[in-house]
Amino acid sequence: MTMSGKKVLIAPSILSADFGRLGEEIRDVEKAGCDWIHVDVMDGHFVPNLTIGPVVVKWMRKITKLPLDVHLMIDEPAKYLEDFKKAGADWITVHYEACESDLRAVLEKIKALGLKRGVSVKPGTPAEVLEPFLSDVDLILVMTVEPGFGGQSFMEGAVHKIPYLRKKFRGLISVDGGINAENAKKVAAQGGADILVAGTAVFGKPDRAQAIRELSSF
Ligand code: DX5
Ligand code: ZN
Repeated sequence: MTMSGKKVLIAPSILSADFGRLGEEIRDVEKAGCDWIHVDVMDGHFVPNLTIGPVVVKWMRKITKLPLDVHLMIDEPAKYLEDFKKAGADWITVHYEACESDLRAVLEKIKALGLKRGVSVKPGTPAEVLEPFLSDVDLILVMTVEPGFGGQSFMEGAVHKIPYLRKKFRGLISVDGGINAENAKKVAAQGGADILVAGTAVFGKPDRAQAIRELSSF
Protein backbone atom coordinates (compact mmCIF):
# COMPACT_ATOMS: atom_id res chain seq x y z
CA MET A 1 0.00 0.00 0.00
CA THR A 2 1.31 3.44 -0.86
CA MET A 3 1.13 6.52 1.36
CA SER A 4 -1.72 7.80 -0.78
CA GLY A 5 -3.64 4.62 0.05
CA LYS A 6 -3.55 3.14 -3.43
CA LYS A 7 -2.27 -0.39 -3.87
CA VAL A 8 0.06 -0.47 -6.82
CA LEU A 9 1.46 -3.77 -8.02
CA ILE A 10 5.15 -3.98 -8.86
CA ALA A 11 6.12 -6.29 -11.72
CA PRO A 12 9.91 -6.54 -12.17
CA SER A 13 10.89 -7.21 -15.77
CA ILE A 14 13.38 -10.06 -15.96
CA LEU A 15 14.89 -8.48 -19.08
CA SER A 16 17.24 -6.64 -16.71
CA ALA A 17 17.97 -9.69 -14.53
CA ASP A 18 21.19 -11.70 -14.61
CA PHE A 19 20.11 -14.55 -16.91
CA GLY A 20 22.98 -16.70 -15.71
CA ARG A 21 21.30 -16.75 -12.30
CA LEU A 22 17.69 -16.36 -13.36
CA GLY A 23 16.25 -18.65 -10.69
CA GLU A 24 18.04 -16.80 -7.88
CA GLU A 25 17.05 -13.45 -9.35
CA ILE A 26 13.37 -14.44 -9.38
CA ARG A 27 13.53 -15.75 -5.82
CA ASP A 28 15.25 -12.55 -4.75
CA VAL A 29 12.57 -10.20 -6.11
CA GLU A 30 9.82 -12.48 -4.80
CA LYS A 31 11.35 -12.34 -1.32
CA ALA A 32 11.74 -8.59 -1.75
CA GLY A 33 7.96 -8.26 -2.04
CA CYS A 34 7.17 -7.88 -5.72
CA ASP A 35 3.69 -8.83 -6.92
CA TRP A 36 4.11 -10.20 -10.44
CA ILE A 37 7.00 -11.22 -12.68
CA HIS A 38 7.03 -9.50 -16.10
CA VAL A 39 8.44 -11.55 -18.97
CA ASP A 40 9.46 -9.74 -22.16
CA VAL A 41 9.25 -11.95 -25.23
CA MET A 42 10.78 -10.50 -28.43
CA ASP A 43 11.04 -12.02 -31.88
CA GLY A 44 13.48 -9.81 -33.83
CA HIS A 45 10.63 -8.85 -36.22
CA PHE A 46 8.06 -6.89 -34.26
CA VAL A 47 10.95 -5.37 -32.31
CA PRO A 48 14.66 -5.27 -33.19
CA ASN A 49 15.73 -7.62 -30.39
CA LEU A 50 15.49 -11.30 -29.48
CA THR A 51 14.86 -12.65 -26.01
CA ILE A 52 13.22 -15.78 -24.68
CA GLY A 53 10.29 -18.08 -25.34
CA PRO A 54 8.13 -20.70 -23.67
CA VAL A 55 11.02 -22.96 -22.68
CA VAL A 56 12.33 -20.34 -20.24
CA VAL A 57 8.83 -19.58 -18.96
CA LYS A 58 8.42 -23.30 -18.21
CA TRP A 59 11.44 -23.26 -15.89
CA MET A 60 10.41 -19.95 -14.34
CA ARG A 61 7.07 -21.54 -13.50
CA LYS A 62 8.86 -24.08 -11.30
CA ILE A 63 10.68 -21.31 -9.41
CA THR A 64 7.79 -19.06 -8.41
CA LYS A 65 4.07 -19.05 -7.70
CA LEU A 66 3.79 -15.34 -8.52
CA PRO A 67 1.67 -14.46 -11.56
CA LEU A 68 3.75 -14.61 -14.76
CA ASP A 69 2.89 -11.57 -16.86
CA VAL A 70 4.01 -12.40 -20.38
CA HIS A 71 4.45 -9.42 -22.70
CA LEU A 72 4.55 -10.66 -26.29
CA MET A 73 6.45 -8.26 -28.54
CA ILE A 74 6.08 -10.62 -31.48
CA ASP A 75 4.30 -10.79 -34.82
CA GLU A 76 1.49 -13.33 -35.17
CA PRO A 77 1.12 -13.89 -31.43
CA ALA A 78 -1.81 -16.29 -31.97
CA LYS A 79 0.65 -18.98 -33.12
CA TYR A 80 2.33 -19.16 -29.72
CA LEU A 81 -0.49 -18.68 -27.21
CA GLU A 82 -0.93 -22.36 -26.50
CA ASP A 83 2.80 -22.85 -25.93
CA PHE A 84 2.85 -20.06 -23.37
CA LYS A 85 -0.23 -21.47 -21.67
CA LYS A 86 1.43 -24.89 -21.41
CA ALA A 87 4.58 -23.25 -20.09
CA GLY A 88 2.63 -21.70 -17.21
CA ALA A 89 1.87 -18.10 -18.19
CA ASP A 90 -0.99 -16.44 -16.27
CA TRP A 91 -1.40 -13.18 -18.18
CA ILE A 92 -0.66 -12.74 -21.86
CA THR A 93 -0.37 -9.30 -23.39
CA VAL A 94 -0.24 -8.91 -27.15
CA HIS A 95 0.51 -5.75 -29.11
CA TYR A 96 -2.30 -3.97 -30.91
CA GLU A 97 0.19 -3.14 -33.69
CA ALA A 98 1.13 -6.83 -34.15
CA CYS A 99 -2.39 -8.11 -34.75
CA GLU A 100 -4.58 -5.16 -35.59
CA SER A 101 -6.63 -7.13 -38.12
CA ASP A 102 -7.45 -10.07 -35.87
CA LEU A 103 -7.10 -8.64 -32.36
CA ARG A 104 -10.58 -9.74 -31.30
CA ALA A 105 -9.92 -13.34 -32.31
CA VAL A 106 -6.53 -13.32 -30.57
CA LEU A 107 -8.11 -12.03 -27.35
CA GLU A 108 -10.82 -14.69 -27.54
CA LYS A 109 -8.19 -17.37 -27.94
CA ILE A 110 -6.31 -16.15 -24.86
CA LYS A 111 -9.55 -16.27 -22.87
CA ALA A 112 -10.45 -19.73 -24.20
CA LEU A 113 -7.09 -20.97 -22.91
CA GLY A 114 -8.10 -19.81 -19.43
CA LEU A 115 -5.60 -16.95 -19.36
CA LYS A 116 -6.03 -13.26 -18.62
CA ARG A 117 -6.02 -11.02 -21.71
CA GLY A 118 -3.82 -7.99 -22.12
CA VAL A 119 -3.29 -5.59 -24.99
CA SER A 120 -0.47 -3.09 -25.36
CA VAL A 121 0.09 0.06 -27.39
CA LYS A 122 3.44 1.50 -28.41
CA PRO A 123 4.14 5.15 -27.49
CA GLY A 124 3.08 6.40 -30.93
CA THR A 125 -0.23 4.51 -31.05
CA PRO A 126 -3.19 6.50 -29.71
CA ALA A 127 -5.14 4.95 -26.84
CA GLU A 128 -8.37 5.57 -28.79
CA VAL A 129 -7.68 2.55 -31.01
CA LEU A 130 -8.42 0.33 -27.99
CA GLU A 131 -11.93 1.66 -27.42
CA PRO A 132 -13.70 -1.12 -29.33
CA PHE A 133 -11.89 -3.70 -27.17
CA LEU A 134 -12.30 -2.28 -23.67
CA SER A 135 -14.78 -4.92 -22.58
CA ASP A 136 -12.72 -7.72 -24.14
CA VAL A 137 -9.49 -7.23 -22.20
CA ASP A 138 -8.43 -7.64 -18.58
CA LEU A 139 -5.34 -5.46 -18.81
CA ILE A 140 -4.01 -2.60 -20.91
CA LEU A 141 -0.25 -2.13 -21.04
CA VAL A 142 0.77 1.43 -21.85
CA MET A 143 4.31 1.54 -23.22
CA THR A 144 6.36 4.52 -22.12
CA VAL A 145 9.40 3.54 -24.23
CA GLU A 146 9.66 2.08 -27.72
CA PRO A 147 9.44 -1.67 -27.10
CA GLY A 148 12.64 -3.64 -27.65
CA PHE A 149 15.12 -2.82 -24.92
CA GLY A 150 15.37 -2.25 -21.20
CA GLY A 151 17.12 0.77 -19.72
CA GLN A 152 15.59 3.46 -21.97
CA SER A 153 14.29 6.84 -20.81
CA PHE A 154 10.64 7.26 -19.85
CA MET A 155 8.62 8.99 -22.56
CA GLU A 156 6.57 11.71 -20.92
CA GLY A 157 4.50 12.08 -24.10
CA ALA A 158 2.70 8.76 -23.53
CA VAL A 159 1.52 9.55 -19.99
CA HIS A 160 -1.74 11.25 -21.00
CA LYS A 161 -3.07 7.87 -22.15
CA ILE A 162 -3.22 6.61 -18.57
CA PRO A 163 -5.90 8.98 -17.15
CA TYR A 164 -7.74 8.79 -20.49
CA LEU A 165 -7.98 5.00 -20.26
CA ARG A 166 -8.66 5.09 -16.51
CA LYS A 167 -11.91 6.97 -17.13
CA LYS A 168 -13.17 4.38 -19.60
CA PHE A 169 -11.61 1.08 -18.59
CA ARG A 170 -12.46 -1.04 -15.55
CA GLY A 171 -9.59 -3.54 -15.87
CA LEU A 172 -5.96 -3.19 -14.86
CA ILE A 173 -3.72 -0.54 -16.36
CA SER A 174 -0.04 -1.37 -16.46
CA VAL A 175 2.77 0.98 -17.44
CA ASP A 176 6.02 -0.30 -18.92
CA GLY A 177 9.26 1.43 -19.84
CA GLY A 178 11.64 3.69 -17.96
CA ILE A 179 9.67 3.52 -14.71
CA ASN A 180 11.60 4.77 -11.68
CA ALA A 181 10.95 6.16 -8.20
CA GLU A 182 10.58 9.69 -9.66
CA ASN A 183 7.89 9.01 -12.27
CA ALA A 184 6.06 6.23 -10.38
CA LYS A 185 3.91 8.75 -8.54
CA LYS A 186 2.82 10.46 -11.73
CA VAL A 187 1.69 7.27 -13.44
CA ALA A 188 0.18 5.50 -10.44
CA ALA A 189 -1.17 8.07 -7.97
CA GLN A 190 -2.12 10.78 -10.46
CA GLY A 191 -2.61 8.77 -13.63
CA GLY A 192 -4.40 5.83 -12.04
CA ALA A 193 -2.19 2.95 -13.16
CA ASP A 194 -2.47 -0.31 -11.21
CA ILE A 195 0.78 -2.00 -12.18
CA LEU A 196 4.28 -0.65 -12.60
CA VAL A 197 6.62 -2.75 -14.72
CA ALA A 198 10.25 -2.00 -13.87
CA GLY A 199 13.40 -3.63 -15.16
CA THR A 200 16.38 -1.39 -14.44
CA ALA A 201 14.75 0.21 -11.38
CA VAL A 202 14.54 -3.21 -9.66
CA PHE A 203 17.13 -5.60 -11.12
CA GLY A 204 19.63 -2.78 -11.60
CA LYS A 205 19.70 -2.16 -7.84
CA PRO A 206 21.57 -4.36 -5.36
CA ASP A 207 18.82 -4.13 -2.71
CA ARG A 208 15.64 -5.19 -4.45
CA ALA A 209 13.41 -4.79 -1.37
CA GLN A 210 14.45 -1.15 -1.11
CA ALA A 211 13.97 -0.67 -4.86
CA ILE A 212 10.43 -2.04 -4.66
CA ARG A 213 9.66 0.11 -1.61
CA GLU A 214 10.92 3.19 -3.45
CA LEU A 215 8.66 2.48 -6.42
CA SER A 216 5.59 2.24 -4.21
CA SER A 217 6.28 4.96 -1.63
CA PHE A 218 4.31 7.97 -2.73
C1 DX5 B 1 10.72 -2.97 -23.21
C2 DX5 B 1 10.11 -3.95 -22.23
C3 DX5 B 1 10.14 -3.49 -20.81
C4 DX5 B 1 11.51 -3.22 -20.30
C5 DX5 B 1 11.44 -2.40 -19.05
O1 DX5 B 1 10.48 -3.40 -24.50
O2 DX5 B 1 8.77 -4.20 -22.55
O3 DX5 B 1 9.44 -4.39 -19.99
O4 DX5 B 1 12.23 -4.37 -20.02
O5 DX5 B 1 12.75 -2.11 -18.64
P1 DX5 B 1 13.10 -0.70 -17.98
O6 DX5 B 1 12.30 -0.62 -16.72
O7 DX5 B 1 14.56 -0.79 -17.77
O8 DX5 B 1 12.69 0.36 -18.96
ZN1 ZN C 1 7.53 -5.38 -21.10
